Amino acid sequence: MHVIGGSASTALAERISRELGNAPFGIPFTKRFPDDELYLRVGGRLEGDDVVIVQSTRTDQDLMELLLLEDAVREAGVRRTFVVVPYFGYARQDRRFFPGEPVSARALCRHVELDADAVITVDLHSATTLGHFHKPAFEASGIPALARLLRERPVDVLVSPDRGGVDRARRMAQLLDRPWFALDKKRIDSEHVELSLPSTGLVPVEGKHAVLVDDVITTGGTIVEAAKLLKRQGVGAVSAACTHGLFLRDAFERIKAVTDEVYSTDTLGNPAEKASVAPDIAQILLREFPS
Ligand code: R5P
Repeated sequence: MHVIGGSASTALAERISRELGNAPFGIPFTKRFPDDELYLRVGGRLEGDDVVIVQSTRTDQDLMELLLLEDAVREAGVRRTFVVVPYFGYARQDRRFFPGEPVSARALCRHVELDADAVITVDLHSATTLGHFHKPAFEASGIPALARLLRERPVDVLVSPDRGGVDRARRMAQLLDRPWFALDKKRIDSEHVELSLPSTGLVPVEGKHAVLVDDVITTGGTIVEAAKLLKRQGVGAVSAACTHGLFLRDAFERIKAVTDEVYSTDTLGNPAEKASVAPDIAQILLREFPS
């Protein structure tokens, strides 16, 4: 099995290749044409082999690079192509909210799977997205990677900043054998939220180390408000852990100002990237597609 890392996921791709028993690893040669179109070329002898392409689609350019990589690998006459999209962009528009809108997540699934034999992604925004694939598709979770890291830290309680994240906080709590609860969140707009303590299920946090668990940190609005709320309850320390750390604009600095630690997985490059999902992705590849 060969592993090819796109420019958005080079480090994670290399980690996956190590988890696959030091599978041959490479990155494509790329350059931009004068009109800014992307040129790329994959190297090595890939004919007849299985190839894993790893590329997050955080930006439209990342997506274009992934589509070109898939075509290049197919042209190389490979046996099977496994496409790993650690951060699957456009997944939040998972349904049509108003007439005239696309189901963006579905559009991406159709195109990403076109030249793939299987797709693997991590913590999709919504469970329905996996159903848009017609080829085998698998969703790894960032929670085990974060739990492997947090097991070494003095964590007392796990907190989901909203009801939508209940399953993640519960799973992390089970892995760490700690209690958990979820805050209530009301979104005001794309950058502002209002958070409150739940009427039931609250775990006392006074003097404790609470870890906020979320799938994605984007503007940081949710985590900043959640950390402030927990501090008002007298929490001893508060940390933030997420699978996908986008940290738009000054989000990372704003979160650092109100938390003790910030942890993210390596689905996207960022300053909090301390846990790797490479073992979890490699496990799916080895389990589902033994050579
Ligand atoms: C919400 O459904 C998600 O789980 C995150 O809580 C949210 O997307 C985080 O966004 P932001 O960092 O902009 O508050």
